[in-house]
Amino acid sequence: MKDFLAISDYSSDEIQDLLDLAVKLKKQYFKKGNKPIFKGKVLGMIFQKPSLRTRISFDMAMRHCGGDALYLSPSEIGLGKRESIADVARVLSGYVQGLMARVFEHEHVLELAKWSEIPVVNGLSDYNHPCQGMADALTIQEKFGKKSRGLNVSYVGDGNNVTTSLMHVSAQLGWNVTVATPEGYDVNPKAIEIAQKIAKKTKSKLTFVRDPHEAVKGAHVIYTDTWTSMGQEEETAKREKIFPPYQVNAKLVSEASKDVIVMHCLPAHRNQELTDDVADGKHSVIFPQAHNRLHAQKAILARLFDVA
Ligand code: CP
Ligand code: NVA
Repeated sequence: MKDFLAISDYSSDEIQDLLDLAVKLKKQYFKKGNKPIFKGKVLGMIFQKPSLRTRISFDMAMRHCGGDALYLSPSEIGLGKRESIADVARVLSGYVQGLMARVFEHEHVLELAKWSEIPVVNGLSDYNHPCQGMADALTIQEKFGKKSRGLNVSYVGDGNNVTTSLMHVSAQLGWNVTVATPEGYDVNPKAIEIAQKIAKKTKSKLTFVRDPHEAVKGAHVIYTDTWTSMGQEEETAKREKIFPPYQVNAKLVSEASKDVIVMHCLPAHRNQELTDDVADGKHSVIFPQAHNRLHAQKAILARLFDVA
């Protein structure tokens, strides 16, 4: 595996293998201690947008295992502005051993991967958020077990980058996915087409509805995300008028399966897409989910560096 840019670039077996490795590395972290598998390696982290989880979890993943990470801020690099993406990729290839990039346009992370001689990890683009999807799948398998085919995963809210990766990882693992979005805020049609191809192979079911109540019936997982993603800030007021019926609150959660877990990639806008009582209630797994970014990403880096 050269890069980690999209969950759909890998087979179901490869995704499960990464999850198994994440479980192993997580056990090491809590029990025996980390092994210095990233010794001598530095990860360059290019950020064009803010981040808490992605930045810190990648940085700590490298440090825990004997490596290091460099934060490269938007103003420093000027990706595609101060210097072409191809030149940035080729220069950094001689300094660091891997790159992680959070970009606005998905094409930019593809361009970085095309020109770099070192592995590139997608730390979120306008199209997808595959590292999030891996941490989400790890969290779901921790709760429902590895043999959880036929599980019902429901996403409620804006059809965005996080939805794409959740849909793809769920289809890869044989989970049924129901997505409820308001009209005009559907998931990227290309992502749906890819999900349908995966679902055909794994026999998972994909359903797209408008009604969030219909979406959560029988759900084992309810997932939501911000109504306004980074880069869409000028639409905030308009979106705040459209999305309230899609709020994940106690009433909506009560309509799902009894053992439902509630997920959110964070940052959450509390009492908008997710109410405080649900975020901090017994169904919520939002913090273990955030913590799993660390373990899932260690597994991704270990495979890319070919050290596990
Ligand atoms: N979920 C996630 O990617 O969080 P950050 O934007 O804080 O990295
Ligand atoms: N959909 C959100 C996810 C943040 C982690 C965004 O792109 O801003």
